[in-house]
Amino acid sequence: MADLLGQLEALAKGAREAIGSAADEKALEDLRVRFLGKKGELSAVLRGMGALPAEERPRVGEVANRVRDEVEALLADAKGRLDARKLEAELAGPPIDVTLPGRRLLPRGHRHPITRATEDISAIFARLGYEVASGPEIELDWFNFEALNIPPDHPARDMQDTFYVEVSTLGDGAPDGSVLLRTHTSPVQIRAMQRLGVPPVRIICPGRVYRSDYDQTHSPMFHQVEGLCVDEGITFADLKGTLAAFARAYFGEGTRTRFRPSYFPFVEPGAEVDVSCSICGGTGRLPVPGGQLPPDRATRRCGTCKETGWLEVLGAGMVHPKVLENGGFDPKRYSGFAFGMGVERMAMLRYGIDDLRLYFENDLRFLEQF
Ligand code: PHE
Repeated sequence: MADLLGQLEALAKGAREAIGSAADEKALEDLRVRFLGKKGELSAVLRGMGALPAEERPRVGEVANRVRDEVEALLADAKGRLDARKLEAELAGPPIDVTLPGRRLLPRGHRHPITRATEDISAIFARLGYEVASGPEIELDWFNFEALNIPPDHPARDMQDTFYVEVSTLGDGAPDGSVLLRTHTSPVQIRAMQRLGVPPVRIICPGRVYRSDYDQTHSPMFHQVEGLCVDEGITFADLKGTLAAFARAYFGEGTRTRFRPSYFPFVEPGAEVDVSCSICGGTGRLPVPGGQLPPDRATRRCGTCKETGWLEVLGAGMVHPKVLENGGFDPKRYSGFAFGMGVERMAMLRYGIDDLRLYFENDLRFLEQF
């Protein structure tokens, strides 16, 4: 027993000296392994305990525990001392240059092209005094169709392939109790008039709409921006001026607009509005890059406007008297105009995107270009 106690005493003494003069963390770690490691000095002593008579073991064990505690405390002290020394050295050294540019660890995200187009369009109308309105995407048949002068059997319903959600079974004699995914943002015209109650009404409504279509230029969910302006004395000239100003702001200063007669049940008269092609500048032709080509081969057909020089971008017209009435406005006193555009299409024409499905595939190679 005396033998083992002597060894423990020697171990403690050796540890005090060695740890006290350890120069760095690496040296400390080596010492920890040497004294306390599985194959270290303390373990060797403890292995010798097996040969002791049972009644002597507790005494040796007690001393061994004390020695281990002491060595651990010495190691912790030494670590604290080394850390403090390191910190002092850093503080005494040259200061950190806080003027250096930061390192970018994560790429910054950005808006989806549809979000961006929606915000750009909204911002232009905000400058013209329009406020943003909204309505539900799950809509009553009445707001989506009936109130907009599209009765149940009207063939104009075929223009918009509709997702019906549910048919009301109230049997309360209401004309049609269907619930559907709104096929356009026009129901917000009615909701906005009812909410505001008094003129002037000047709202735009960006939002999601749904139709049962799917191909290169149609997606079952897409986005529209609706516009509505109602007041005393609003004329078609106001509509033209507003949309011409919008087209110049969105597609560029030189953009021209053209109105063609068209039919939507909720406006009268109604028009389809074209803008001069933003890709070819309205000429229908694009220059062929490179070399001196003979005049007939120096340009090629513009695929975006199909060589017409014009792009169809929105539907518009003077609000139908029945629609004003359904919104709670006296059509003899007030008049107004409305318009609606597809956001996907607006962004496609501005950025030269040729397949609408790209918007919804979430392919970063596409999204990161915006
Ligand atoms: N709601 C029509 C559509 O989705 C567009 C439109 C809006 C036309 C307002 C005229 C006036 O096609």
